[in-house]
Amino acid sequence: MCGIIGYVGQRPALPILIEGLRRLEYRGYDSAGVALMERGKLQISKSAGRISVLEQMLDMQAKPKAGIGHTRWATHGAPTDVNAHPHTDASGRIAVVHNGQIENDRALRTYLERQGVEFRSDTDTEALAHLISRFYQGNLEQAVRQALHEISGAYAIAVVCSDEPDVIVAARNGGPLLIGVGKGEHLVASDPAAILSHTTQVVYMSDGEMARITPDHVHMTTLDAIPVTREIEEIEWGLEQIELDGYDHFMLKEIHEQPEALQDCLRGRIEARSGSIHLGGLVDCTRELTRARRFILTGCGTAWHAALVGEYLFEELIRTPTETEYASEFRYRNPVIDDGTVVIAVSQSGETADTLAALVEAKQRGALTLGVVNVVGSSIARETDSGVYLHVGPEIGVASTKAFTAQVAVLAMMACYLGRRKHLSPAAASQFITALEQIPKQIAEILERAGDAKVVAERYAGFENWLYLGRGYNYPVALEGALKLKEISYIHAEGLPAAEMKHGPIALIHEGMPVVVIATSGSQYDRITNNIAQVRARGGSIIAIATEGDRQIAKMAEHVLYVPDTPEPLQPLLTVIPLQLIAYHAAVLRGCNVDKPRNLAKSVTVE
Ligand code: G6P
Repeated sequence: MCGIIGYVGQRPALPILIEGLRRLEYRGYDSAGVALMERGKLQISKSAGRISVLEQMLDMQAKPKAGIGHTRWATHGAPTDVNAHPHTDASGRIAVVHNGQIENDRALRTYLERQGVEFRSDTDTEALAHLISRFYQGNLEQAVRQALHEISGAYAIAVVCSDEPDVIVAARNGGPLLIGVGKGEHLVASDPAAILSHTTQVVYMSDGEMARITPDHVHMTTLDAIPVTREIEEIEWGLEQIELDGYDHFMLKEIHEQPEALQDCLRGRIEARSGSIHLGGLVDCTRELTRARRFILTGCGTAWHAALVGEYLFEELIRTPTETEYASEFRYRNPVIDDGTVVIAVSQSGETADTLAALVEAKQRGALTLGVVNVVGSSIARETDSGVYLHVGPEIGVASTKAFTAQVAVLAMMACYLGRRKHLSPAAASQFITALEQIPKQIAEILERAGDAKVVAERYAGFENWLYLGRGYNYPVALEGALKLKEISYIHAEGLPAAEMKHGPIALIHEGMPVVVIATSGSQYDRITNNIAQVRARGGSIIAIATEGDRQIAKMAEHVLYVPDTPEPLQPLLTVIPLQLIAYHAAVLRGCNVDKPRNLAKSVTVE
């Protein structure tokens, strides 16, 4: 999704802006641009396409020491040069970069056109630039404030004006924005990754806040001009976490990071001997959680799949009715919520617009809300009553991998934590935790045999249709495996609960069609091998994910990818790994841009 970077200080701004834009690339974009303050005038460069195209238009030796930049993901208007940000007013004196959507854009445009303003682009942002210009009387902060009072919708913006060459005005209402604090310089960005190579000291802005940023000062206020004081916080990540570190792609790096990432996620939270779990975020609401009559888990995409595993975990371990809902459906369907309902939002970024809106809806209806979120200080993390962070470091690859396993791990810990306060015996909890403790090591074992997944990808990457089947805890994994393949290799894939196959999708099976079946040991084993037989009878090629030591399965499948043994509720943490690797290799073999798949954004901050 769109990204913002701004710099004001003592150094030439352009290289800093371009580096920032490159670090925002992973979020997805289709055009980019910068505005530099040059001797009392603005120099705007923008173009559709990659940042490298923009770079060709720029003089990288340019001297200006302040500017703003943007990566755009088209919503209002096509991804063209003219629709790229920054957008300026008619005089070219004021430039705006904007993430989000202005809802009353039509009305503003009509009003401004009646006043004689000629629009050059199809964007909602241009209206904001013209509006600020109309209010400008020598004080940019004041003009932005007045303009924002006329605007409804979600936004994070950075604005510059050639009359105030060392000022950036930033404002946030529904999109992430933070200010980086340096020596004699400040940065503003929508994502910490954009500024991390310059500073780890940041001030997170909240909704309804504005900042006037100069090289030496940040003056923060509410939109109504009430001064706001915020602590400077330290970004937890290191630069190495947002660099490739020798890997060809971030997705591959993040797949391989999973043993360590899960270790970080579990650290200090589980104790096998006593069968106890410590989740600081739940301490204050444990009583309410144990008394809950219903849990609703909500999210989008991969996070929704993790939530679905959570549903199985919660019902089995806590024995409280639990449903999983697409956030986009939940927010609009007038859900029944009472004060015994707990709504848990699952999200890597903590910024997904649908998930955030579902959460706000749940809160308004009186639910206790929790977040299972990776990005510290993100909107969902702030909006929820409480929650548990994933602590797996930044996830850059658009296709979510380590966040999925960590989301499942956190939901497993929550289920065990609350289960112990209800029906789960100390012995059962201790067994569960002992198995959970083994997961990072077991993932490392699977990754040692990563080449097996590559062989599968090499054999089947040319097929345009795949099926993924699973039962019980591995049904959400089948959905996730299919999503991974679709997202990055553009192969059509469908994930199904295996038994549903006979009610329709079985008609798709033809000679040689790749069918991935998660057939690990446990209560569903006989049923799933039965499904394998049904596929084979119709000529499908079976790629089985099976438990180490299962020799029988090798007779039924063209390929077997083995995972270590673990209790059924924890199997998703292992069975998903070969599926991530298959998708990765298939995408590479098909020449796809793994980390920046077409049409996708890392964090979808618009509806
Ligand atoms: C986007 C991404 C998906 C991700 C989903 C939810 O669609 O492309 O990979 O699963 O958003 O993101 P979240 O940050 O809320 O987990």
